[in-house]
Amino acid sequence: MNDLASQLPWAELHVHLEGTLEAPMVMDFARRNHVSLPWTSPDELTRAYRFTDLQDFLDLYYAACAVLVTERDFHDLTAAYLARAKLGGVRHVEMFFDPETHMQRGVDIGTVITGIASACAGSEQRYGITTQLIMCFLRDRTGAEALTTLRSAKPFIPHLSGVGLDSAERGNPPSRFVDVFRMAREDFGLHAVAHAGEEGPSEYIWQALNLLGAERIDHGVRCVEDPQLVAHLVRHQIPLTVCPLSNVRLGVFPDIGAHVLDGLLKLGLQVSVHSDDPAYFGGYLLDNLRAVQQGLGLTNAQIVQLARNSFTAAFIPAERKIQHCNEIEVVAERMLGTGWRQHAGSTTDSNPGW
Ligand code: ADE
Ligand code: ZN
Repeated sequence: MNDLASQLPWAELHVHLEGTLEAPMVMDFARRNHVSLPWTSPDELTRAYRFTDLQDFLDLYYAACAVLVTERDFHDLTAAYLARAKLGGVRHVEMFFDPETHMQRGVDIGTVITGIASACAGSEQRYGITTQLIMCFLRDRTGAEALTTLRSAKPFIPHLSGVGLDSAERGNPPSRFVDVFRMAREDFGLHAVAHAGEEGPSEYIWQALNLLGAERIDHGVRCVEDPQLVAHLVRHQIPLTVCPLSNVRLGVFPDIGAHVLDGLLKLGLQVSVHSDDPAYFGGYLLDNLRAVQQGLGLTNAQIVQLARNSFTAAFIPAERKIQHCNEIEVVAERMLGTGWRQHAGSTTDSNPGW
């Protein structure tokens, strides 16, 4: 397709590496690692992708992770994702990974991080994609376990740019992870992000901001339930990394037409669109963009705004943001014609303030 979204550069800020594990890869890795699975073919596995909610999805997602055993597995998975992302216009990725789910199976954290980092090392040259890694703690485990994980990651901190919080949200508040986030920020100089307000209440977004020092909120769509929170997010331009296909597949919204993305953009929130677990939710970044463009009737100006927002929210230097945004402008003019902003009635901010 030659649509606007496919011609623009994008930053992918909310993708779980383990969520890029496509069904054929699950089968290949299981074979080479002699791991037995409850599914006998990729088709049988994909037929099981009918999720009722987040926990239902996570049960299958963690089960499939059992095939990831060696450094080569983590390398190959990362390289396959980057090759695919390049085709979808991704220029910068900040990738989540969940070491605890592998460590509980006896896989060393060094195996996980070294494997991922070795694929990322050649990424800019090979795929034209700059990379950063965000290590997530599983919120359905304890804060003490998260601290142990962070301490065991110490030799690999140079490979990380941030920490995150993911897994089953309901009943697992950010408040449990204050110490580990403080250590990550203050002792290791890492960025902080957190999943919040996906299935859980908007109160968890406040906690992620105020207790964990989160600089971005992953999902955050339930902020709409709290007008004061919305006002705070707008005033401070706190980024929300929104994953529309994920939200629909996990029942957060009944269908794409009911998604709040359009409303969030109109309210002036710093939202961007991402893919979460693309192997499981029906598509990568461009698939998510096309879904919202069609399902919500987003304008070209809104698509351009989403591209700009994706870089604005990234943990990259201001000069890089400006370069990417300049390229976005060039592509928009080429695709939409000079002066497209006036014709589109765009509300895009030409001075984003960095
Ligand atoms: N881990 C992988 N995908 C997730 C999601 N959508 N929410 C929370 N944790 C996750
Ligand atoms: Zn996620």
